[in-house]
Amino acid sequence: MNIPTNLGFTTKDIANAVQRKDIIIIIDVLRCCSTIITALANAADGVIPTRTLRYARALRQKHPEFLLAGERKGIKPKEFDLGNSPLEFSSPKVRGKSIILTTTSGAKAIISSKDAEYVFIGALLNAKAVAKVSLTIAEQEKTGISLISAGTNSQFSLEDFTGAGAIAQGFPADKVEHSDAVSGALLAFQRAHGSLTRVIQSGSHARRLESLGFEEDVKFCCRLNVFQIVPFFKGGTIVPFTEAVDTEGA
Ligand code: MLT
Repeated sequence: MNIPTNLGFTTKDIANAVQRKDIIIIIDVLRCCSTIITALANAADGVIPTRTLRYARALRQKHPEFLLAGERKGIKPKEFDLGNSPLEFSSPKVRGKSIILTTTSGAKAIISSKDAEYVFIGALLNAKAVAKVSLTIAEQEKTGISLISAGTNSQFSLEDFTGAGAIAQGFPADKVEHSDAVSGALLAFQRAHGSLTRVIQSGSHARRLESLGFEEDVKFCCRLNVFQIVPFFKGGTIVPFTEAVDTEGA
């Protein structure tokens, strides 16, 4: 049987995916998921997503050794160590560190999926690798795959839709049965592929980030398949997925 793939946008879609026991891939290209992928690729120990600034600060008080990172309205909150720019999560800063991360949409979508057995973090940066791992696990578990677009402030987002298409491109066509939404995302990605950065720059969130001075973040997050790392959310923390799935060549 081919593996059913779905694309969801809302908290209700996440709840339905959890109920179906789907493998979940949370996608927030700009910038939460790209930041998490970069942090783990630069050898951070783990990322702890939190919904609120208050909880993030309380957790930091309990664990002064953790880094405190995130954004509100795109900007680093007061007294935080890092914002939500993947470029800040360099190896010298994050290696061996646990990072508390609170962001407007991405962190919340991740936390909303906490009851699922398998929650992966996806973006353009690791599209092929996350597709390969998810498909392998879905085959093992005989279940479907739900791509979840975190969006921007509960709005549809062009970069997450395109990112979902990039991940769907990594599923061999003869192994999956796409929903119409996934087929649409795949078509969008195939159309955008030659000019991904330009297409994503035309979206409202990219324009907003650029107006805040984050042009380099947008360019960084538009790169396709540069990391093999597949972040995995379990028990409140995001760590690299280490079960034996060969992502070489992904
Ligand atoms: C979010 O989670 O809402 C985004 O990552 C926002 C941002 O680009 O900082």
